[in-house]
Amino acid sequence: MSTPAAGVLIRPLNASELDEAARIIRAAFGTFMGLPDPASLWPDRDYAATRYRAAPENALAAELDGALAGTNFLVRWGSFAFFGPLTIRPELWERGIAQKLLAPTMERFDSWGIKHSGLFTFPHSPKHIALYQKFGFWPRFLTAVMAKPAADRSAAFTTFSSLDQDGRDAALAVCREIAGAILDGLDLSVEISAVQAQSLGDTVLLDADGFAVCHCGAGTEAGSGSCYVKFAAVRPGAHAEKNLERLLAACETFAARRGMGRVDAGVNLARHQAYRAMLRAGYRTAFQGVAMQRPDGPGYNHREAFVIDDWR
Ligand SMILES: CC(C)(COP(=O)(O)OP(=O)(O)OC[C@H]1O[C@@H](n2cnc3c(N)ncnc32)[C@H](O)[C@@H]1OP(=O)(O)O)[C@@H](O)C(=O)NCCC(=O)NCCS
Repeated sequence: MSTPAAGVLIRPLNASELDEAARIIRAAFGTFMGLPDPASLWPDRDYAATRYRAAPENALAAELDGALAGTNFLVRWGSFAFFGPLTIRPELWERGIAQKLLAPTMERFDSWGIKHSGLFTFPHSPKHIALYQKFGFWPRFLTAVMAKPAADRSAAFTTFSSLDQDGRDAALAVCREIAGAILDGLDLSVEISAVQAQSLGDTVLLDADGFAVCHCGAGTEAGSGSCYVKFAAVRPGAHAEKNLERLLAACETFAARRGMGRVDAGVNLARHQAYRAMLRAGYRTAFQGVAMQRPDGPGYNHREAFVIDDWR
C-alpha cells in the first residue's frame, strides 16, 4: 500500500494555476520517460489550458500544504468520457494522490450517466495498469500513435471556421449524427467548439460523410509543425472505407495548406479497417499505448468503427 495521502484536498482547478499545472504535466511525464531534463518535454504543446478552457468545470486539482500536487482533466464526448492527462508532482508519487483524483472522476462520470469510458496509458507500466484497474478499467487493444509527412493532395473539403453561424449549427448537427451512428450518444461538439473558440486549428468537413477535429501548431495539443487529428470519423456503411481514405487525404491537404509538415493521428488497433486505411495512406507508428476501458467491452473500438482518435 502507498502511504495514505493525508491532508490532500481535491477541488476544482483555478485558471490562475494553469502554468503550474502545465509545469507539473511536463515534469511528471518527463520524469516517467526518464528524460535528463524532464521540464524540457513538449515545450510548445499544451494540454492544461486548452482542456481547461474547453470545460473549466471538468478540471480537478489535488492540493497539498497549499500547493498544487497534481491535476486531472475529464473529457465528456456525449455518452462517452475519458480523462487525462492525470499527473502528480514526481516527488509526491506513491502516496495515493492519483487515487484521490480518480475517485471523484469516477463519481463525475457516473453522475453524467456515462455508460462507457476509457483512457490511454503506458502498456509497459505495471503501476499504471494496476492503478486504473482499481477503478474498473480493463486493458484491451493497443492504440498506435501514427504520423506521416503532410502534402497537399488537392483533396476537397470544407472547414468549420469558413461557415456562417447557420452553417456551423448545421455542421454540428451532422457531426453529432455521424458520431451517434458509431456509438449511441457520442458527440464531439465540445471539441469542435473548443477548436473554433480557441483558434486551435479547424474541423475538416466532408459534407455529410465525415469530419476531423484538428489541432495545428504551437500552443495546441499538436505542437510546432504538426497537425494532430484529435478525432476523426466517417459515417458507417458501405462507403465508410472510401470515405475514410478521402478524409485522411483531406486532413493531409489541410495540414499542408496550414504550413504543417506532419500529420499525427492515433488509432486503436481493434479498429482493424481504420488502422489498415492509415497504413495504406503511409502512416507509420511513432509509439503505442494501450486503451483501458470501463466496463471491459469494445465501446467504439471494434472492426467496423472508422474512427481516428487516441484518448490522450
Ligand atoms: C501515474 C501517476 C499519475 C500515479 O500517481 P500516484 O499518486 O503515484 O499514484 P497512487 O499513489 O495514487 O497509486 C499508485 C498505485 O499503484 C500501485 N503500484 C505501483 N507499482 C505497482 C506495481 N508494480 N504493481 C501493482 N501496483 C503498483 C501503488 O502501490 C499504488 O496503489 P496502492 O495505494 O494500493 O498501494 C504518477 O506516477 C504520474 O504523474 N506519472 C507520470 C505521468 C503519467 O504517467 N500519467 C498517467 C498517464 S496515463
